[in-house]
Amino acid sequence: MSFLSKIFKSEPKLDPISLSVFGTDIHSHLIPGIDDGSPNMETSIKLVKKFVDLGYTKIVTTPHVMCDYYGNTSEKITKGVDELREELQKQNVKIDISAAAEYNLDDGLQDLIDKKDILTFGDNHVLFELPFMQEPRNLQEIIFNFQMAGYKPILAHPERYTFWYDEFEKYDELKSRGVLLQMNLLSLTNHYSPQTRKVAEKMVDANLVDAVGTDCHRIEHLMMLEDHLNLKHIHKLAEQEKMFNKML
Ligand SMILES: [Fe+2]
Repeated sequence: MSFLSKIFKSEPKLDPISLSVFGTDIHSHLIPGIDDGSPNMETSIKLVKKFVDLGYTKIVTTPHVMCDYYGNTSEKITKGVDELREELQKQNVKIDISAAAEYNLDDGLQDLIDKKDILTFGDNHVLFELPFMQEPRNLQEIIFNFQMAGYKPILAHPERYTFWYDEFEKYDELKSRGVLLQMNLLSLTNHYSPQTRKVAEKMVDANLVDAVGTDCHRIEHLMMLEDHLNLKHIHKLAEQEKMFNKML
C-alpha cells in the first residue's frame, strides 16, 4: 500500500471490467411500450445499442407480468420482441435478443403456472419477483409449484426486499430449495439505497449470487453501470466461475 493510500485508507483502484465477461443479460425492460421500461421503438434501439457497446452479446429481456398492470401476455411479449428484433436487424445492430418475463408473485401467477403459460429461458428457467411490501405468504408454495411443473425459478433482485434485511439466512434457505438468486448490478452502487448496497455486497462476499442483471428500464441505468465497472464487488462477480449468465 502506498504512503498516500495508507493515509486515506483507500483501496487500490481497479480497472473497469467489460460486461462481455457475463455475455448475457437476463433482466431488462426493453420492449417498447408494454411496461414501465422503454416507451417507444426509438428508445429501445438506443438501449440495445448501449448493451452492445458495453460488451453484451445476448439479451433475454423480461417485461413485467402482473395481473393488475400492463396486461402483458406471452403472445404480446413474443410479438413485441419479434418487432424489436426485426428493427434491430434493419438497423444492422448485431445482438442475440429474445424475451421471457419478470413474473410478479401476485394473484395471477398460479393460474399461469397451471396453464403452463410461462415464458422461460436457459433450461426452463423462469424469472420472478416479489411485492416489495412484505414476504408473500405463499412464497414457498409458488416455488414448489414452479418446480413441480418443471420450471427452475430465479428470484429477481433478492437484495432489494427490505423485509429480509434482518433475515440474511433467507437467502441460504431459498438456495437450498433450488431457487437461483439474481442480483441487480446497480445494487452494488448507491442507486437504490446505501442499505441495499450493503446487503448486496454482503451477498457477493458470502457467495450467494447465482446470476446478475441490469434491470435496465432506461438509458441512465446503463450509464450509471458503465461508471461503476471498477467496483471491487462487480469484479468479484465477474470472476465467479459458476455465473449463470456465462452459461447461456
Ligand atoms: Fe425488472
